[in-house]
Amino acid sequence: MSIITNIEDLRRLAKKRVPRMFYDYADAGSWTESTYRANHADFAGIKFRQRVAVNLENRCVASTMIGQDVAMPVALAPTGLTGMQHADGEILAAKAAEKFGVPFTLSTMSICSIEDIAANTSKPFWFQLYVMKDRDFINRLIDRAKAARCSALVLTLDLQVLGQRHKDLRNGLSAPPKLTIANLINLATKPRWCLGMLGTKRRTFGNIVGHATSVSDMSSLSSWTSQQFDLGLSWKDVEWIKQRWGGKLIIKGIMDAEDARLCVESGADALIVSNHGGRQLDGAESSIRALPGIVDAVGKQIEVHMDGGIRSGQDVIKALALGAQGVYIGRPFLYGLGAMGEEGVSKCLQIIRNELDLTMAFCGLRDVRQVDKNILLPGTF
Ligand SMILES: Cc1cc2nc3c(=O)[nH]c(=O)nc-3n(C[C@H](O)[C@H](O)[C@H](O)COP(=O)(O)O)c2cc1C
Repeated sequence: MSIITNIEDLRRLAKKRVPRMFYDYADAGSWTESTYRANHADFAGIKFRQRVAVNLENRCVASTMIGQDVAMPVALAPTGLTGMQHADGEILAAKAAEKFGVPFTLSTMSICSIEDIAANTSKPFWFQLYVMKDRDFINRLIDRAKAARCSALVLTLDLQVLGQRHKDLRNGLSAPPKLTIANLINLATKPRWCLGMLGTKRRTFGNIVGHATSVSDMSSLSSWTSQQFDLGLSWKDVEWIKQRWGGKLIIKGIMDAEDARLCVESGADALIVSNHGGRQLDGAESSIRALPGIVDAVGKQIEVHMDGGIRSGQDVIKALALGAQGVYIGRPFLYGLGAMGEEGVSKCLQIIRNELDLTMAFCGLRDVRQVDKNILLPGTF
C-alpha cells in the first residue's frame, strides 16, 4: 500500500475495501449531485493572503465548540450506518475522536448503539436526533442519551422527507446487506470487511431494533423509518425537545437566515449551516457560500458551525475565517474508517490538523482563535 498523505488517499483505499453498496452510500449526493459537488468545489475559489517573516513559534489549533475544549475545531459529523463502513465503526470512530480530543457525534441511524459508545469511551460524546412520529420513542432516545452522559444533542431538522440517491436504489441498500448474487460477488472481493463483520454482532440499527415498538428486523425497519420521519415537525417540537433534553442543543441543517433567527429564538446553543452533505435538496447553495449570510444574521447571538465539502485543513480554516466557530467532517472520517478502521480515522484527523496548522502559519497566525476574514484575499469570498 502506498503512503497515505491526504484525504483523497483514504477515499481511494476505502473504495477498495468497503462493499460497493456502503461505499456508494457514503460517496453520493441526491439526484444530480450538484450540491454535493458545489460543497467542495466552492472552497477552491476562496484565496488566502500569504504573509511572511512573522513569528510562528508555539502555534496552537485548540479552540472551543459550545464552550467545550477541542484539540481543533473539527467534530465528527453524525453519519448513519457507520458500522457498515467497518465492523463496529461507530465505536472505532468515537475512540479515535476521544484520543484526538475532538467531539464525536453518534447518529440516531447508527449501527452501534448509544450504550455501545458509552461503554467503549470515557469522555462524553454528542448524540444526533431525528424527530420521528413515535414521541415515546423520541423521549426514550433522549433519556438514553442523558443516561449515557452525552454532552450535546444535535437536532437535525432537514430530513422530514428524504432526498433520492440513485445509487442506493440501484444497490438495494440495506443493513445487513441482502445476500443477492450481485452482493455476494462484490463481498467476495472484500475479505477484510467480511471477516470484521463475522466478528461482531452489530449489523443493524442499534438505537432502534429492540427499542422501538414492533421493530425486530431490517425488513420492518426500513418501512418503519420511512413512515416515521415526521412530516408535521415544527418549531414547537424544538421547544419540547429542548425542554426534555435540558442540556446543550445544536440545531443542524440550517441554510437560510430566516431559519437561523428561529434557531436563536428557540434558545439553541449553536446551529450548523448544513445541506446534509448534498444529500437532501439538490440545487441548494453550498454550505460555505451560505455561511457568511448566516453569520451576518445571527453570529453575535449564537455559535455558528458548518459542514459540507471539507476535505482538508485549508477548507477548515476558510470556514473559520468566514465566521464558523467550528466545523464537522462526514465523508473524510468515513473514508478513513473504511480504509483502515480506527487508525484510518486517526490518520484523517492528523492530516487535517497538520494542514490546518501549516496553513494558519502561512497566513501569519499562531493561534486558530485569531483566524478571521483578514486571512482571506478580498474579492475571493
Ligand atoms: C453516509 C452519510 C450518512 C449521513 N447520515 C446522517 C445522519 O444520520 N444524521 C445527520 O444529521 N446527518 C447525516 N449525514 C450528514 C452529515 O452529518 C454531514 O452533514 C455531511 O456529511 C457533511 O458533509 P461532508 O460529508 O462533505 O463532510 C450523513 C452524511 C453521510 C455522508
